[in-house]
Amino acid sequence: MRIVLLGPPGAGKGTQAKRICETYGIPHISTGDLFRENMSKDTPLGKKAKEYMAQGLLVPDDLVVDMVEDRLTHEDVLAAGYGYLLDGFPRTVHQAEALCRINAKRDCELDFAINLDVPFDILIERVSGRRICPTCHATYHVKYSKPKVEGVCDLDGTPLYQREDDKVETVKKRIEVYQDQTEPLIEFYEDKQKIININGLQHMKDVFDNIEKILSGVN
Ligand code: AP5
Ligand code: ZN
Repeated sequence: MRIVLLGPPGAGKGTQAKRICETYGIPHISTGDLFRENMSKDTPLGKKAKEYMAQGLLVPDDLVVDMVEDRLTHEDVLAAGYGYLLDGFPRTVHQAEALCRINAKRDCELDFAINLDVPFDILIERVSGRRICPTCHATYHVKYSKPKVEGVCDLDGTPLYQREDDKVETVKKRIEVYQDQTEPLIEFYEDKQKIININGLQHMKDVFDNIEKILSGVN
């Protein structure tokens, strides 16, 4: 199964991606996580990406496309029958066109572009309350998804942290960039009859149930 998850910052892409990938046995490929990994290892790609991410801007298309194309050659993708869930990619029409070309090289097509729809005023509260485990990448929220012990990951006991680009001013910029550069992808995938619109305002479990109803049709 080949899926892309669309939606503004804080729509719940990472939260739903984890559940979908566990259920359907496909690799979760988050371009944001890949950049953060590179940043923590201080690689040349990480250094370059940091300049853009810290300001809430998109990393240039060529860097992102090369990184994704390389990631899609990894064993876990091949073992899943060239299956994947892309979280946060594509984010521009240029990236979406590049993904079409990458799939075509393998004689494959995307199954779905799932768009999580959440009103902009909710996003800031979601993103600014988010806390993340640096060890297993589990995501919590200070109000909507609390860990059992405050500030500590349920799964491995690691102290949680807040992402640097989750400060209110940067989140506002990210939302602006989303409207400008990423929202046009909804129409792009509508034209290709791949779009699935999901109300992301519901409880996390109900969002997942809605997605599962659609995906179970192809499995
Ligand atoms: P990235 O890491 O992809 O961030 P994002 O798209 O801004 O999305 P977020 O991770 O903020 O939110 P999410 O939708 O995953 O929400 P989550 O599930 O965590 O990108 C970061 C940066 O990297 C970009 O700004 C850019 O610079 C760069 N980048 C990445 N990809 C790129 C690309 N393709 N091209 C160029 N640059 C790129 O949920 C948020 C919070 O809400 C959590 O606390 C969660 O617990 C809570 N929550 C989730 N669902 C619900 C619900 N239903 N109800 C209540 N609370 C909920
Ligand atoms: Zn953890």
